[in-house]
Amino acid sequence: MSETSKNSNEKRIFATNDKKLNIAVLPGDGIGPEIVEQALNVTKAVCKKFGHTLTYEYGIVGACAIDSVGEPYPKSTHELCMKSDAVLFGAIGDPKYDNNPAAKVRPEQGLLKMRKDLGLYANIRPVTTFPSLIHKSPLRADLVDGADFMCIRELTGGMYFGRPQGRSEDGNTAYDTCVYTREEIERILHLAYKYAGQRNKKVTVVDKANVLATSRLWRQIAQEVAPQYPDIETEYMFVDNAAMRIIQWPKSFDVLVTENLFGDILTDEASVITGSLGMLPSASVGIHTSVFEPIHGSYPQATGKNIANPLATILSAALMFEYAFGMTEEGALIREAVAASMDAGIVNEDIADNGIAYKTTEVGEWIVKFISK
Ligand code: IPM
Ligand code: MG
Repeated sequence: MSETSKNSNEKRIFATNDKKLNIAVLPGDGIGPEIVEQALNVTKAVCKKFGHTLTYEYGIVGACAIDSVGEPYPKSTHELCMKSDAVLFGAIGDPKYDNNPAAKVRPEQGLLKMRKDLGLYANIRPVTTFPSLIHKSPLRADLVDGADFMCIRELTGGMYFGRPQGRSEDGNTAYDTCVYTREEIERILHLAYKYAGQRNKKVTVVDKANVLATSRLWRQIAQEVAPQYPDIETEYMFVDNAAMRIIQWPKSFDVLVTENLFGDILTDEASVITGSLGMLPSASVGIHTSVFEPIHGSYPQATGKNIANPLATILSAALMFEYAFGMTEEGALIREAVAASMDAGIVNEDIADNGIAYKTTEVGEWIVKFISK
């Protein structure tokens, strides 16, 4: 196997097997490039091990894209994503925009545009525990040990995309609009039932139907869809109650499905079950190419320090093998390698014990070695 450059950007790993993986790599901002490099190295090692041919090409997104071409999700990046079989994504965001609410063009708009243009209406965030990390959770071990659920967050609707959005002329009133259509709600509910059918056969529909009109439409449609899946239990829960139950009784969930903003908030909360925000991967799926990304942000304070935890991105690569390529053994091997690295104590500072923390590259290299042996 050898690596060559066909042009300045495209790289190809040659292998004898005819399974071809053609991926777009979007490192983004902050720690994005560092963690994606490790996930890409892991992807290469897996392809080498299983004899797949990997082709990959880099694209720009987020603040770095604004800096170089003036927009956060340029057309060239979209075209790259569209022609690829999967997208491996790092993180976006930069303090120079966070601290400037008046900025007209923002890195986050790039992520939102990518999700919309690729039709990625579902963000799948599996929440699981790792035995060697249980003691890191601020929650009691007996509560989190064995927790295993999947959050399905609607990703292209709701308040993130609803219009009008803006300010009154005098600048003293601001408004966002939450909009959902029947079609948007139906398709994500069916997806939730599909996953529940492959898991423990329970769906929790999270809404705020006691207050919001959009939530009442969610609940009405859920009540229509649920009877189509008679072997799956359906539970309805208000979002405030769900926020409490995720912490109090995480093992009671199997598949949780909810709208965009609620899902954003609840999944950050759910990461404390895992032990660190640096551990939660995600898959965004829908109409066009799927995107695999950690749920955490660009962690600007750690940029360039080689200290960020690459495991959420490496675990996102595992989801990529499974969801985009149907390669379950490959995904399982990555997960096994990640668990082994934690058991061996080869971890970054966010989950390190006794002050023994490894570098981002050291964790990535250990995992590559485990996979390659
Ligand atoms: C996430 C992030 C994004 C979101 C931000 C960066 C726009 O928090 O993927 O959860 O809110 O969707
Ligand atoms: Mg978020």
